[in-house]
Amino acid sequence: MKMNVHEEESLVSVEKTASHEDLPLPIYASLEPVYGGGSQLEEAQLRFDTLKSKFLLVFGHQPDVFARSPGRVNLIGEHIDYEGYSVLPMAIRQDTIVAIRKHESGEAEKLLRIANVNDKYTFRTYPADPNQEIDLKDLKWGHYFICAYKGYYEYAKAKGLEVEPLLGLDILVDGIVPTGSGLSSSAAFVCSSTIAIMAAFDVSISKKELAQLTCECERHIGTQSGGMDQAISIMAKAGFAELIDFNPICATDVQLPAGGTFVIAHSLAVSQKAVTAATNYNNRVVECRLASIVLGIKLGMQPTEAVSKVKTLSDVEGLCVAYAGKHGSSDPVLAVKELLHEEPYTAEDIEKIIGEKLSSVFANSPTSLDVLIAAMNFKLHQRAAHVYSEAKRVYAFRDTVSSNLSEEDKLKKLGDLMNDSHHSCSVLYECSCPELEELVEVCRENGALGARLTGAGWGGCAVALVKEGIVPQFILNLKEKFYQARIDEGLIGKNDLGLYVFASKPSSGAAIFKF
Ligand code: GLA
Repeated sequence: MKMNVHEEESLVSVEKTASHEDLPLPIYASLEPVYGGGSQLEEAQLRFDTLKSKFLLVFGHQPDVFARSPGRVNLIGEHIDYEGYSVLPMAIRQDTIVAIRKHESGEAEKLLRIANVNDKYTFRTYPADPNQEIDLKDLKWGHYFICAYKGYYEYAKAKGLEVEPLLGLDILVDGIVPTGSGLSSSAAFVCSSTIAIMAAFDVSISKKELAQLTCECERHIGTQSGGMDQAISIMAKAGFAELIDFNPICATDVQLPAGGTFVIAHSLAVSQKAVTAATNYNNRVVECRLASIVLGIKLGMQPTEAVSKVKTLSDVEGLCVAYAGKHGSSDPVLAVKELLHEEPYTAEDIEKIIGEKLSSVFANSPTSLDVLIAAMNFKLHQRAAHVYSEAKRVYAFRDTVSSNLSEEDKLKKLGDLMNDSHHSCSVLYECSCPELEELVEVCRENGALGARLTGAGWGGCAVALVKEGIVPQFILNLKEKFYQARIDEGLIGKNDLGLYVFASKPSSGAAIFKF
């Protein structure tokens, strides 16, 4: 459990015997292994220098250790991780860095003092009590750190780890993943905070365990998220997208075709995942759970058994496939089409089928009960059809990448899969918005082979697959056709465009720095 500083070389030799996700996070004494060279390294050096000097200024001490965790762009596999299905994201270069210092036992105040290099996020203090409640109706930026803090103590308790008596912590944060953009700024913050806390307490666990732990940490913010964002942030490798499987979490490298580049473009509609959870994100999680229970019953399960055992659509996929098999197909969507009607279900419709009140099914989940209060009805057919079809597209994407198709055909097929994914997100899952629809259309009209919303949706970014050679022109076209009107309206400054539209290569995952 104790940490050792190991340099890159020794890490390489360890990797020969253990798989990537069984290893602990790397600990570096310099920035190069993560930030490479050139302007990226210079930018990182500047950020770390600022963190060090500001830490000293604010807290009167040097930090003990730094942790960084990147944002991500999901290439395909949207809203299916919480249903148990594999997804295919890659880490982006934008990350969050957390500098931390554990108080000495003699220091008087047992407080968590959290500052940010960005003045927009004001200084916050919290008690060093891991059992404190997070007021979900009044979320503040510092609560994302508290998620990590609570989650770490729960983990330590569950594992029977010896925990030190409660001491205060000083924390300084520098995040450059744009917030509300669908690029997982929240996971980058929660992951880097969890890693920093564990590094300050000198505790080290495998990346696999850390991915699971950080997913549980972030649920303290009230979203029932599935684990993709944390898994890729922790397990990413430079140069690769990753196919992430769940139960158990595992990452497989996916080498993307060299001739294509993924361009990320912000719709400028802000997506506040935690704030809108009851009507958007958690609503879909609840709808999927209800769809899976109803499907289970229609496919022969006893209602009580379905309610108690079926948690996700992947739990009843076997039954759906068997049903399809009897009708000459192998597609689980056939069962959805025939057994769930398109017309939205009311709570009473579902209660009649399952023989139980919805409030009792979700009695142990306050955030799901919030969904029931906010929801008028439930679109079980549409949500299940999206999940099963999107799950298949992820494997089709992975298989296309490793197929013998010509590069041209590969890119075209990948683009088609992205377009299909967007259509399904937009029409069946209804997690798009007018700005994203416009942006995706502009991307396609200007040479993207495929374009789709990425992340939770309801705002945030689109990702477009573009041939390497046309990327600069493509970005110029987006500027003219999508952003110029918004610059004129004063929505964004013309010099900030680089923050809102950029090409991205797969970046490396989380790391610890001790200088
Ligand atoms: C958010 C969640 C993820 C995932 C995506 C949608 O980013 O945190 O777990 O569900 O939305 O694919």
